[in-house]
Amino acid sequence: MNITYYGHSCFGVEVNNKHLLFDPFISPNELAKNINVNNVKADYILISHGHEDHIADAVAIAKRTNAKVICNWEIYVWLNKQGVENIHPMNIGGKIKLDFGNVKCVNAVHSSSLPDGSNGGNPMGFVIESKEANFYYAGDTALTYDMKLIGDYRKINFAFLPIGDNFTMGVDNAIIACDFINCKDIIGMHYDTFGFIKINQEEALQKFNHSGKKLTLLKIGETIQK
Ligand code: NI
Ligand code: MN
Repeated sequence: MNITYYGHSCFGVEVNNKHLLFDPFISPNELAKNINVNNVKADYILISHGHEDHIADAVAIAKRTNAKVICNWEIYVWLNKQGVENIHPMNIGGKIKLDFGNVKCVNAVHSSSLPDGSNGGNPMGFVIESKEANFYYAGDTALTYDMKLIGDYRKINFAFLPIGDNFTMGVDNAIIACDFINCKDIIGMHYDTFGFIKINQEEALQKFNHSGKKLTLLKIGETIQK
């Protein structure tokens, strides 16, 4: 499984030869200025919630690639108004079987308005189950006991967790989330993009290390294999 970091909470993950793109926010991100958004591949675009820093490039990439967008009902309605046609609306608790594996929408504790101020529905996280691996993409969320359900029902091989604090959980709570989801292999997201979420990366890595867990902080544009 190849994982490419496009900055903030945006990742491309190749699952069974399909390109999944999570929370596309690239062109407004100064830190991601070396990424050409026109080259980003997508067969599926998964959107956790409506905030600008998760959806900014969704319409353009969806139209260019004709990728299937997976999002909640309210974002489905909004994207449809922007002329995006290939969308599969879901909501928390729902699971679908796709050609690369399963997508299950899980709870996220956050808010969700769309860039024009309209209602973005409820924020979600995603659990991807596939033959290659299972992983959890948390979206923007606080630490919540609901995460225990995620680890109870299947093995989570690795997870994308927000660690920037302020708008989401920070490093200390992300370490507790590892125990809730029963997974020690974490890729950090939602940090350093803006002033509110600047972290001390060295300290974050050390804290995970001391608790017997692994935090990976990718460089923007970097690809790793899982
Ligand atoms: Ni948000
Ligand atoms: Mn955010």
